[in-house]
Amino acid sequence: MHLLSKPLLPTRDITDEKTFVDRRAFLTSIGVGLAAGASVLSPRLAAAAPAFRRWQGEEDKLTPYADVTGYNNFYEFGTGKSDPAQNAGSLHPHPWKIEIAGDVKKPGIVDLDEFLRPFQPVERVYRHRCVEGWSMVIPWSGIPLRDIIARIEPGTKAKFVEFTTLHDPKQMPGQNRSVLPWPYVEALRMDEAMNLLTLFVTGVYGKPLPNQNGAPVRLCAPWKYGFKGGKSIVRIRFVEAQPHTTWNIAAPEEYGFYANVNPTVDHPRWTQAREHRAGEFFKRKTLMFNGYAEQVASMYTGLDLRANF
Ligand code: MTE
Repeated sequence: MHLLSKPLLPTRDITDEKTFVDRRAFLTSIGVGLAAGASVLSPRLAAAAPAFRRWQGEEDKLTPYADVTGYNNFYEFGTGKSDPAQNAGSLHPHPWKIEIAGDVKKPGIVDLDEFLRPFQPVERVYRHRCVEGWSMVIPWSGIPLRDIIARIEPGTKAKFVEFTTLHDPKQMPGQNRSVLPWPYVEALRMDEAMNLLTLFVTGVYGKPLPNQNGAPVRLCAPWKYGFKGGKSIVRIRFVEAQPHTTWNIAAPEEYGFYANVNPTVDHPRWTQAREHRAGEFFKRKTLMFNGYAEQVASMYTGLDLRANF
């Protein structure tokens, strides 16, 4: 079996935060799109540049790398925000195996690097809104999940996709405590998984995904609260019935299956109307679907978003 030592990244070089921001700011300021960008960037990066411009609102400043990687939720390494950065060194994300299961053409266990090799990575800057009320703006890199699903070829019974995190208390010492039912499980409806925005994330700021952010691969559906983004995924399962997901099992009145960012539906214990963006003093208004209504609202036509929160 051939193993890559480096996780999949959209660029061949590893970019530091300042270079990353300067390069994108420069491209954006001069209005560089794909054609012009191609002359100064590698073809793989140039292909990603329009995606970067497209998903970052004018008002959204990138959250510094130190905050993105230093203030996390990853209960497998502790419940404090700095616990994951401090404790996630015990996770070994390379090599990594993922099980493809359920109603698919070829179920089985694959090596992640081998599995991802044919795909073209993209960079996407997304707003990231935690159900607890904090938010960030994060430049992810990864593979559109729809491309991965197309390759997996699910069958007609597949109505939902379930994502399961590694369960290994030796690597994830927080699993020795029953703060949540382990392993951590999240799931999306098939159309949500196939949405243009949904990303199978392998990197952040042009660097490999740090352990605390869900190495080697995590999910990102940016119109949903952060908890839908399961980390360190070891199984992708295609199923007919709506899966039981971790936070919904732990506290069903507080955390629904859908978890769409919706400022009009409060969490039972606090408002969701406003959020605290990392690095900002004043709270800002939370946007419907986290600002991605244009891309996702049509998926929920006819669905009562108060009952299906
Ligand atoms: N995935 C696993 N396996 N374990 C977790 O505790 N926390 C979720 C989600 N994915 C979590 C997880 C929650 S509540 C949030 S808000 C996001 O990860 C946080 O992602 P970040 O730390 O990269 O900001």
